[in-house]
Amino acid sequence: MEPEESHKIALKINGHVHSVEIDSNWTLNDVLRNRLDLTGTKRACDYGGCGSCTVLMDGVDVYSCSILAVEAQGKDVTTIEGLGSSESLHPLQKSFALSYAAQCGWCTPGMILSAKALLDRNPNPTEAEVRMALSGVLCRCTGYTSIIQAVLEAGRVMRGER
Ligand code: FES
Ligand code: FES
Repeated sequence: MEPEESHKIALKINGHVHSVEIDSNWTLNDVLRNRLDLTGTKRACDYGGCGSCTVLMDGVDVYSCSILAVEAQGKDVTTIEGLGSSESLHPLQKSFALSYAAQCGWCTPGMILSAKALLDRNPNPTEAEVRMALSGVLCRCTGYTSIIQAVLEAGRVMRGER
């Protein structure tokens, strides 16, 4: 088998530019987890079936396991580490904690980032719109109800109703 060609690329992640040399077949998820230690982005199926690897790319929620790292050049990538800090949680992070919307937590970063993409384009979604927006991220633990409630509550906070 031919060895993979390596590429030196620059990726903008959470506002910082990182230069990395990688094989051309590395995914964005490979770079985040294995090169930059941004392990908040999860990986389960590794083929676009579960959503645990979801990140934002130019504000759109995408599966980082299904995007080559070279394709993410020139884009603005946000991972869960870029959303808030332990001193200053994003309203979605706070709401997930207060609503007990995480059990094992494997789906949680993807859920929160898909919810962020939704609330950025639609600050006042209906419950059905929340369910639709999160339908690309699977949760095996919670039964989804607490997650949906957490997103609706974060929306209220972000609209200044709480
Ligand atoms: S790990 Fe990417 S969709 Fe499952
Ligand atoms: S909390 Fe375990 S998969 Fe969602």
